[in-house]
Amino acid sequence: KVHNLKAYRPPHFLVEQVTLTFELDPSATRVEALTHFKRHPDAPTDAPLQLHGEELQPELLEIVGQQERPHYHIENDRLTLTPPAESFTLRCVTRIAPDKNSALDGLYISGGMFCTQCEAEGFRKITYYPDRPDVMAKFRVTLIAEAQQYPILLSNGDKVATADLGDGRHSATYEDPYPKPSYLFALVAGDLALLEDHYTTAEGRKVTLQLYSEHHSIDQCGHAMQALKKAMQWEESRYGLSYDLNTYMIVAVGNFNMGAMENKGLNIFNTKYVLAAPHVATDAEYEAVEGVIAHEYFHNWTGNRITCRDWFQLSLKEGLTVYRDQSFSADIVSGSVQRIQDVRLLRNHQFPEDAGPTAHPVQPESYIEINNFYTSTIYNKGAEVIRMLETLLGWPIFRQGMDLYVARHDGQAATVEQFICCMEDASGRDLGQFRLWYVQAGTPELTFNSLYYPESQRYVLNVTQVCPPTPGQLSKAPMHIPIRMALLDPDGQPQSLKLVDGEQVLGAETVLELTTGEATYTFEGVSKAPTPSLMRGFSAPVKWDAALDREALAFLWANDNDPFNRWESGQILAVETILDMVGLTQQNGELPDLPESFAHAFETIIKDGKSEPALLALSLSLPTTGYIMDRMDKADPHLVYRVRQHVRQAVASRFRPLFLSLYGRHYSDEPYHYSPANAGARALKNLALDYLLENPEPTVLALAHKQFHQADNITDWLGAYGPLLRCGSPSSSELTHILYTRCKDSANALDKWFSTQVTMVAGPEALSLAKALTQHPDFSWSTPNKVRAVVGSFSGANPTAFHAIDGSGYGFLQEVIAQLDEKNPQLAARLCTYFTRWRRMVPELSQPMQNALQRLLDTPNLSNDTYEIVSKSLAEA
Ligand code: ARG
Ligand code: ZN
Repeated sequence: KVHNLKAYRPPHFLVEQVTLTFELDPSATRVEALTHFKRHPDAPTDAPLQLHGEELQPELLEIVGQQERPHYHIENDRLTLTPPAESFTLRCVTRIAPDKNSALDGLYISGGMFCTQCEAEGFRKITYYPDRPDVMAKFRVTLIAEAQQYPILLSNGDKVATADLGDGRHSATYEDPYPKPSYLFALVAGDLALLEDHYTTAEGRKVTLQLYSEHHSIDQCGHAMQALKKAMQWEESRYGLSYDLNTYMIVAVGNFNMGAMENKGLNIFNTKYVLAAPHVATDAEYEAVEGVIAHEYFHNWTGNRITCRDWFQLSLKEGLTVYRDQSFSADIVSGSVQRIQDVRLLRNHQFPEDAGPTAHPVQPESYIEINNFYTSTIYNKGAEVIRMLETLLGWPIFRQGMDLYVARHDGQAATVEQFICCMEDASGRDLGQFRLWYVQAGTPELTFNSLYYPESQRYVLNVTQVCPPTPGQLSKAPMHIPIRMALLDPDGQPQSLKLVDGEQVLGAETVLELTTGEATYTFEGVSKAPTPSLMRGFSAPVKWDAALDREALAFLWANDNDPFNRWESGQILAVETILDMVGLTQQNGELPDLPESFAHAFETIIKDGKSEPALLALSLSLPTTGYIMDRMDKADPHLVYRVRQHVRQAVASRFRPLFLSLYGRHYSDEPYHYSPANAGARALKNLALDYLLENPEPTVLALAHKQFHQADNITDWLGAYGPLLRCGSPSSSELTHILYTRCKDSANALDKWFSTQVTMVAGPEALSLAKALTQHPDFSWSTPNKVRAVVGSFSGANPTAFHAIDGSGYGFLQEVIAQLDEKNPQLAARLCTYFTRWRRMVPELSQPMQNALQRLLDTPNLSNDTYEIVSKSLAEA
């Protein structure tokens, strides 16, 4: 069944108030819902009431105050009832089995505690209800449970009553004063430890902050708590928005399909994004905790106070909130590092999605299963679209647009269109063409060409744009693309810009607005032949060819004063170098030497003493195998991997002394403490070690072993262990054992123990290892983090093993998906994305990949989730 944006109709009935009572029991929870309905003012008087319900049977269904039973029927997960009046209260009792809920959607059990996940459509597995985001109601929730086993009872809003029921059970009642859609409902019951703190808002509200986790991990919650306070403060100073309840609760759960969920006043989090301690979380995870805590907190305004009218508007809250959490991280960690990481994520996930069979616009027009649309396009491209608005309007006007959005739509279920209207009204600009970013899928491609005329001191920049066809969208209109640019003189300094016929001098950097298929810009008064610095800061989510020669790229890599572009120039240089070498290898059957031009450029960077270490580490990292493959007509992972490794080995041996000195300079014996500066130093040091271990001779092996044995933190353990494993060090199995004993008390640390092995062991061994690890006593198919650690890492981070020429890697993934699909369709469908790009591969791989997809399609009783991805992947291009 396909859902279409065009088919949207307002609900016939609204809900003013819903009162829920849960008698919690793992195998038979009784749910009573008293829902007060009122006919929508625009609905016809004979309109029926339609409620969603999945895997439910009503034990009781009655209209409060009426003797006779109401007329209703149930069909296809819908209950249709003839309403007795304009407004009435329905009493509905259902009974559900949380302990059998392996889909982790609705009410389920994780590690002995009850918890919920209702976005997007989980509430309909709890009770019959209009489970759509444009129905916003006030919730009052009573939880009843065994007091001993479930001492902590939580739901949204303020706790208004508690009671001891005398029979070993107790109860707690919560009231949330803010009307909300059902997807933001949450409850938690269990034996949990609590970390508490306070925050006083700008308005003087004293908010109690509560972080709940299992007892053994409560001492790992401090970092998340600090992050929460920073996020609350940041949102007040940047957006003038404060928290609006007296309590803010976060619960960490071990079994969770995604990262986290912004339920009103009661966020539920994957432990991966809460728990942080030196021996369980890497530096990158410390940063991810801050980012996700902020993300869910920012949803309180962009998501909860203003929610989405329907799921086609998902990016209204997700794109905007990702943009906001990225800005937060940029402020508290490093703006330039954050920007580069955001772009890397976009390129490694969203670009492939946008170029494949599941490509969809930021505002999709149809879907089969909404859970499949929590994608990188909705989230990350959506965030880029918001960022372009900020670039085009300037921060002050953008902020006014945000203020207007909040003023106009607070308490409403809004649309992308309404958001854009606010930006138009605040700026006085026509964003008609800009709206295409929401409805056209695919990544636009820009081609620049330029010419310098020394006699007239003019510089002419020509640019064209095209957007490739995507499923259902064969031709595209030109988009509105901001091009942030500068012209650099030979010292790397931006020259002042003035367009011929332009009124004003533009300053050292400007934003050109490309709105046509082709445009030419002529600058005057350009006294020296410039090097163009284009798409600075990645000013639009596009691909571009700046038509720069290797010399210009090397110059920008070393000198551009835009940190993103400095990094970017090195990446382009590396990709072009590697692709050339791939071509030569194909021609000659043997690997060519590393070109001197690349070696020289690399040397300049490695000697750079000025850049912050985190930035330098990024600058010295080669583009991923996947990113390089995306540039080939027919991608050959084995060849790309071989050439990339060859380049790594060549620079590693050539610059061994420089890497050794980098390592020494950033090595520290201090006890672990997370800070952006320390994390940057560790990243650079571990990058140096990683390169050095490409040539594992005794001194280097000794360094790595010393780090592994002496370090007090998992970042450095893995920094040594991973590359040691990759280079086949004879100590591997002993190290694996030692690392296990260090990790065994933390599920999150163990996930990295699993994933590092599966990622770093190369070749056919990796498959037998992955299979063996799924039999390990610490592995569990019902914990998504574990499945991702083994099967996800194998399929996504070990290209030579996954793409084994005999198809064995594909066969493994296909069997896993088929089995998982019966239990957890969301997780199964996610894993299918490793297959979606089969058409892009060399024929000897695309055929077995297609076969694996076909076998999946033939699997009996496939879920909607998996069916949608598999069938779209196989559909004629
Ligand atoms: N709204 C959550 C967040 O991004 C994610 C929910 C994902 N839900 C899903 N069914 N995939 O913060
Ligand atoms: Zn979100």
